[in-house]
Amino acid sequence: MKVTWKLPDGTEKSADVANGTSMMQAAVDNNIPNVIGECGGCLSCATCHVYVDDAWVARTGAADDFEDAMLDVAEAERRDTSRLSCQIEASDALDGLVLIVPQP
Ligand code: FES
Repeated sequence: MKVTWKLPDGTEKSADVANGTSMMQAAVDNNIPNVIGECGGCLSCATCHVYVDDAWVARTGAADDFEDAMLDVAEAERRDTSRLSCQIEASDALDGLVLIVPQP
């Protein structure tokens, strides 16, 4: 699937990501700034925080209760579209996904 990150400096970066890869891992692999993934995807750091583009929110779904609680400790401002990107997995259904990278 293809994913596009909108970066804080106003530029965009896109990559092809294998199905099953988390959006955190994809960001790390593609040197996306401000997406750290410190805990490796086990929902204990919130350094993989991103905003899902409005057009994609319905398809990525909502955070579960634990992710929701972790989003409260994310460094950047929390929004309705906030997700922890280690909890979004690449799939054909998300081909074309757009994620917005928070300001540090
Ligand atoms: Fe740590 Fe997502 S990588 S919560």
